[in-house]
Amino acid sequence: MNILAIETSCDETAISIIEIPHANKNTTTILSNVVVSQIELHRPYGGVFPMLAKREHSKNIVPVLETALRDADLLKLKKKTSPLPENILAGLKKIFEREPELHDIFIEFFSKITTPKIDVIAFTRGPGLAPALWVGVNFARALSFVWEKPLLPVNHMEGHMLSPLLKRTTEKKAFITKPEYPILALLISGGHTEIVLSKKLFSYKVIGTTRDDAVGEAFDKAARILGLPYPGGPEISRQADRFRKKGIAASGKYKLPRPMIHSDDFDFSFSGIKTAVLYMVQKIPNLTEDIREEVCFEFENAVTETLLSKMMKATIKYNPQTVLLGGGVASNSHIQKEFHDSFKKEFPEVSVSVPEKELSTDNALMIALAGSLRFLGDKKSVLAFDSRKIKNIKADGNWSL
Ligand code: KG4
Ligand code: ZN
Repeated sequence: MNILAIETSCDETAISIIEIPHANKNTTTILSNVVVSQIELHRPYGGVFPMLAKREHSKNIVPVLETALRDADLLKLKKKTSPLPENILAGLKKIFEREPELHDIFIEFFSKITTPKIDVIAFTRGPGLAPALWVGVNFARALSFVWEKPLLPVNHMEGHMLSPLLKRTTEKKAFITKPEYPILALLISGGHTEIVLSKKLFSYKVIGTTRDDAVGEAFDKAARILGLPYPGGPEISRQADRFRKKGIAASGKYKLPRPMIHSDDFDFSFSGIKTAVLYMVQKIPNLTEDIREEVCFEFENAVTETLLSKMMKATIKYNPQTVLLGGGVASNSHIQKEFHDSFKKEFPEVSVSVPEKELSTDNALMIALAGSLRFLGDKKSVLAFDSRKIKNIKADGNWSL
């Protein structure tokens, strides 16, 4: 059983192909995992520009598919290029009505290749930037139509949440750990900040969320104020680490708030901390390297303490057996260390798991993983191939877990 997964919710065009384990076995084979990032392109804007993301996805997705098929050893060229049948061409014209450029690249590529062994097509239906999501959704519809294979819509946040469960034994082999429930997950990315309670597989309740900016967004905005490039998370983290390595105490001159840390709920607010960075920087006459490192150190500490404090509070209330971190910000090594250390000290019985670095930022392997678990355990989420129903499949930028 081969599953092909597509991810285009933000600024990464990604396709992964995995072979799902047969009954009784728990080994997943990662046949390919291709990610093409648009970070460089969005950098001058200091954030992701949705229409630019859409254009890039349209341009890159067929080459990404080609690489993914080649890596998986599933790319076979026809002896001679042959045009697609009329009825297929007519269908594709409708599917790619809004992506004329992708339409042309798709047709050219598909008249050259034979049908690969793919059994189901998983794709990110949401949440994310609607114009970007639509490219992946229409591409998935087109693949389903041409290959006559079922579709499997996946929630991007479920992908992030389940990503820590994939443990590789070699580059290509992995197993999916079976977590103890209940799970408490902290999903922290450029677009989301959520605490999710899961009492069993596929059952999710969002118990806390941000009231304004997402954590990743706060990192990106604070970085911009400090004159650091996009994406700001890794930059701030590097600067903060530099300060920590000096082994000196903070001067105490650059204190930032820990917003909502004492509120009784599990919600967050990160826009105030970014504004506090702005006011602080405006008052610093000469922002030297040393000062900037200290401000980054304070910023990272403030965010980490806020996240940790809410997760600790939620742990007391909900008694989870497992804590999972997911999303781009979860790759932050200080946040990871503080979570591991604090839980070991306060709740040693709770297992804390984080995704491998490559799987914390956006990728299609996590979509393949969530898709494979749905395929095996939740048949109703699989949309059997039906050429007439394909047109009813839509992206949903706000799809909640
Ligand atoms: O999950 P992701 O790749 O995309 C979304 O779904 O949003 O997350 C991207 C976010 C960006 O805001 C980026 O600055 C942040 O994750 N990020 C980090 C780190 N690496 C990426 N934030 C803090 N520390 C990091 N090491
Ligand atoms: Zn994401």
